[in-house]
Amino acid sequence: MLSHLTLAHFRNISSATLSPSEGINLILGENGSGKTSILEALHLLAMGRSFRSRHLKNIVQLEYSQFTLFARSSEMTPVGLLYDIQSGLQIRLNNAPLKKLSDLAVNTPLQFISANCHQFFELGPKFRRKMIDWGMFHVEHKFNYHWQTYKKALLQKNAALKNKKSRNETELWNQYLIKHGLIITDYREAYLDKLVSVFEPLFHKLCPSLSDCKFTVKYNKGWSKEKSLAEILDENYERDRIIGYSRNGPHSADWTLRINDASAEEMLSRGQQKLFYLGLCMAQIIILLNEKDVKNTVLLIDDLSSELDWNHQITVIDTLRNLPVQSFITSTNSELASLINTDKEKVFHVKQGEMIAS
Ligand SMILES: Nc1ncnc2c1ncn2[C@@H]1O[C@H](COP(=O)(O)OP(=O)(O)OP(=O)(O)O)[C@@H](O)[C@H]1O
Ligand SMILES: [Mg+2]
Repeated sequence: MLSHLTLAHFRNISSATLSPSEGINLILGENGSGKTSILEALHLLAMGRSFRSRHLKNIVQLEYSQFTLFARSSEMTPVGLLYDIQSGLQIRLNNAPLKKLSDLAVNTPLQFISANCHQFFELGPKFRRKMIDWGMFHVEHKFNYHWQTYKKALLQKNAALKNKKSRNETELWNQYLIKHGLIITDYREAYLDKLVSVFEPLFHKLCPSLSDCKFTVKYNKGWSKEKSLAEILDENYERDRIIGYSRNGPHSADWTLRINDASAEEMLSRGQQKLFYLGLCMAQIIILLNEKDVKNTVLLIDDLSSELDWNHQITVIDTLRNLPVQSFITSTNSELASLINTDKEKVFHVKQGEMIAS
C-alpha cells in the first residue's frame, strides 16, 4: 500500500505531499484544482505512463523544466521519478535505476477508472482487450510471455506482408502465432468465465434495482468460430497480402457482457453503465485476491459523483471498504467527506494546486 507521495512541478501542483490511508482516500476540490493530476501522478508511478498525455513534457508545470514524483509503500519500496525536458526520464526503484518501465507495473497492480467510464462501450475492442489482459498479466504470469512472443511474431509477419516477401517466408511466422495465440485465447476464455461469476453478485449489490439480471460473456476470439486459427491464417493469405497486415487472430479479439441476453450498452442507463464498469474493475481486484492473494491493488476513481446519485455513491464507497484495495477517489462534491470514516480513511482538499489540511 502506498504510504507517501510527493509531487513537485507536476501540472498545476508546485509541491504537495500526501500520506494516504490504506483504504479509502477522498480527494476533493473545485474544477481545475488539481485532483485528476494527483491520480495521474499515481498512474505514472505505477504504470510508467500517464493516462492523458503521451508526452511527459506537457505534464511539467508551465515555466519549469522538470517534475519529480516520489512514493513509498508500506512494504518500503521507494519509487522516484524525475522527468526533465532536456534530459528525459529517470526512474529509481528501491534506490536502483530502472531500465524497463514495465517493471513498475509488476510492482503495484493499479486500475484507473476515468470520469468517462462509458469508454468501455465506446472505445472499441483494444480498450476491452487491455482491460482483461491487465487481469491476466497479474494473475497468470505466463500470459505475458505468450502475449509478448505472439506480438513479436505478428510484427514480423506484418513486415513480411508489407514488404511482399514470399508466401513461405511470410507463413513461417504462423506456427508461432498459432502456438501462442491459442494459449492466449484459452487464458482469456477462462479468465472471462471467472470474471462474470465474480462480477454478477457484485453488480447486484452496486445496482440493487437490477439484482435479478443475469450476465453472460460474449467473446469474439478474433476469428470465425467455425474455423481453426490455422485454417483462417491460411485462407486469409491473399487478402492479408493486399492490405499489408494480418487481420485475424487474438490481437483482434473482443468481449463484452450481455445482460439478460441483451446488449448492456443499450439496456443500461448512464449511471448503470458507470456501475457496470466499476463492478468489472472491482471483480478483477477480487480475482487477484482469490488467485494470487494480492492485497495491494490501487484503484483510482476520477470524479465518482458524475452520473451517480447520492445513494449509489454511498454503495460504491461501502463496497470498496470490503475490498483489499487502496482507493483514491476524486470529486467536486465536498459532501462526500461526510461518508468517510475518519479513523481509517482520509480526505484531502486541493485548492489551486495546493493541498489544504482538512
Ligand atoms: N503543464 C501544466 N502546468 C500548469 N498547469 C497545468 C498544466 N497542465 C494542466 N494544468 C492545469 O492544471 C489544473 C488542474 O487540472 P486537473 O485536471 O488536475 O483538475 P481537476 O481538479 O481534476 O478538475 P476537474 O474537477 O475539472 O476535473 C487545470 O487548471 C489545468 O489547466
Ligand atoms: Mg478532473
